[in-house]
Amino acid sequence: MATTLTPVLTDRWANERSWTLDAYRKAGGYEALRSALAMAPGDVLTAVKDSGLRGRGGAGFPTGMKWGFLPAPDGGPRYLVVNADESEPGTCKDIPLMMADPHLLVEGAIITSYAIGCHHAFIYVRGEVLHVYRRLLAAVAEAREAGLLGSDILGSGYDLELTVHAGAGAYICGEETALLDSLEGRRGQPRLKPPFPAVAGLYGRPTVINNVETIASVPSIVANGADWFRSMGTERSAGFGIFSLSGHVARPGQYEAPLGITLRELLEMAGGMREGHELKFWTPGGSSTPIFTAEHLDVPLDYESVGAAGSMLGTRALQIFDETTCVVRAVARWTDFYAHESCGKCTPCREGTFWMKGIYQRLESGQGTAEDLETLLDVCDNILGRAFCALGDGATSPVTSSLQHFRAEYEAHVTGGGCPFDPVAAARFE
Ligand code: NAI
Repeated sequence: MATTLTPVLTDRWANERSWTLDAYRKAGGYEALRSALAMAPGDVLTAVKDSGLRGRGGAGFPTGMKWGFLPAPDGGPRYLVVNADESEPGTCKDIPLMMADPHLLVEGAIITSYAIGCHHAFIYVRGEVLHVYRRLLAAVAEAREAGLLGSDILGSGYDLELTVHAGAGAYICGEETALLDSLEGRRGQPRLKPPFPAVAGLYGRPTVINNVETIASVPSIVANGADWFRSMGTERSAGFGIFSLSGHVARPGQYEAPLGITLRELLEMAGGMREGHELKFWTPGGSSTPIFTAEHLDVPLDYESVGAAGSMLGTRALQIFDETTCVVRAVARWTDFYAHESCGKCTPCREGTFWMKGIYQRLESGQGTAEDLETLLDVCDNILGRAFCALGDGATSPVTSSLQHFRAEYEAHVTGGGCPFDPVAAARFE
């Protein structure tokens, strides 16, 4: 169960049968939709713009501004696509949200669709989470039955179809344009941007793509107003979000808090590090964000402060590692993941992740050389800013940042002929 300082997104998770329409309505659900339908669509958009809500999928792009990029209506369709393909290593916020409170997402999707003039919305959910897919299908069926979807929603004259689509389990399909290709029935590979989806998205039509948590934040903004939202978080990183703590903490899980909270404060809520151990390194926002160390315990977790400290807020997936973890091993594991998930469309990412994986295998098995460490940095240099999408850049983040903070540990793998944390190899270090 989630622990919460800002009871909005996770507030209903502990309620009995929280995922049902009945439970959601008893807790005030779909009242924001009623209010939104009584407003002009442009006023809903203005409220979201004024709230300062930024995309919760990782990049933090201003949500209202993204909606505002849609061209003026031309009589053709325009779409909302909810990105529910949560796959960033360590990220586990959208899936529990959809399991515990799917109607919050459905309500957010209806309000958003109304605001942007969309009559067919999609939720693209990753294929491996069949239980989430089923839960969403059930919620959509319930909403339709209750007149909250379909034609003339709540007697307003507004019509909306909502389709839930399951992907096939490829990390790249979380990249918004690869997601669109996959949704259109093609192999999921990123498209060249611009044009951005706002201009030419699904089936070449104007499309808004937002993360689950972003859309789930919309009903509360409509219900409580932009000022209420801005009263939480920081000036440029307004509101709240779900922070997922995993790894060597006493109580891993989801913690909802205002943006700008620190890891020190989150750790207090999570019962601290596991007993008898101390923090060694952590990711502020999944493995695609440069790692932090114990020095960064007091960095406010908002977009600006994390950026100024040399990383990115990303998906707020805080993976916590104590002193028993070999940083080279952890980064090797992530690098394996990126090499496996690289879609192969662009050379820097396809070849670069392959070469990095090979170097990590050498380091791990005691075959690494001092030159390998320079080659790792060189490969990163040749991926960064040259890959087709964010996957390539993300793959370099843990490599360069771990070399920056823990170079001595890498060197120990070279000079000691393997991993000092591996009991067999460790014997050689004595
Ligand atoms: P991005 O910064 O390129 O774009 C962010 C959003 O803003 C997109 O929807 C894009 O279409 C829109 N946008 C940006 N500039 C625009 C413009 N000039 N006109 C119209 N729209 C514009 O970032 P991207 O590649 O979408 O996402 C990267 C992030 O994704 C990373 O920071 C990472 O944290 C996160 N990520 C999240 C995962 C997850 O499971 N949630 C998985 C992997 C990465």
